[in-house]
Amino acid sequence: MPDIHPRHTLIQISDPHLGRTPGPIRPGYPDSDTQLRAVLADVRKRHPDAALMLVTGDLAEDPETVTYVRLARYLSELPAPVSALAGNHDDHGLARQTFTAAGHDFDAEQRIGNWLIVSLNSAWPGHTPGRLAAEELARLQSAIRRYPDCWVLVAVHHPVVPVGSRWLDALGLTNGDELLAVLQRNPRVRACIFGHIHQDFDAMHGTVRLLGCPSTCVQFLPGSEDFALDPEDAGYRVIRLHADGEFETRIERVPDTAMVPAP
Ligand SMILES: [Fe+2]
Repeated sequence: MPDIHPRHTLIQISDPHLGRTPGPIRPGYPDSDTQLRAVLADVRKRHPDAALMLVTGDLAEDPETVTYVRLARYLSELPAPVSALAGNHDDHGLARQTFTAAGHDFDAEQRIGNWLIVSLNSAWPGHTPGRLAAEELARLQSAIRRYPDCWVLVAVHHPVVPVGSRWLDALGLTNGDELLAVLQRNPRVRACIFGHIHQDFDAMHGTVRLLGCPSTCVQFLPGSEDFALDPEDAGYRVIRLHADGEFETRIERVPDTAMVPAP
């Protein structure tokens, strides 16, 4: 019997931080490529029916063509279409050009069932915190208007609110209030997902659910005043979208991807 209430699975991965060549990007770190490939293998195994893979920024630690080509190739091995956006470590133009050439979407607006997924660019050249240009905020409002029958999920790299970690909260979205105003003004907006914080985060702002994501590489310790790593496995977010605007979400952790503490 056909499913009269179809659901669609979105997968979010974030902050793979691939280097120019495979290997650890800092002493003591795991190999970014090996970590990412373990996460992608887990996604393939557990979610072969995924409708879309969203990659929410800090694609590269070394933002060069060779890095983006390698990442785009890994992602091409997934059965799901891929949509990416840039983070503060990225060269937005180069990432967009390389991903588009590989057949992936970038800064996209996608329709999945009766959901609209809008990816925004918060990368602010020369800065670690993020900033949404007026054109990006206008693009979001225009997309919401153009799809009056759709529920909306917004994806962006920088967290739109503080996450309770002093050092990270100094590096968030500098005009998050402007984005929140747009999200709040439109009751069809159900969620805003982001990367950058390398940890799970889940909070409500009015009717909008705000969701952070672990990194595929290393994790940051929640609640820490200063920079600190968390000896937790790498992970990704699974979101099941329902036709009535409801959704379920959870973090999946990938076994044996935690950092091994130095002896
Ligand atoms: Fe990152």
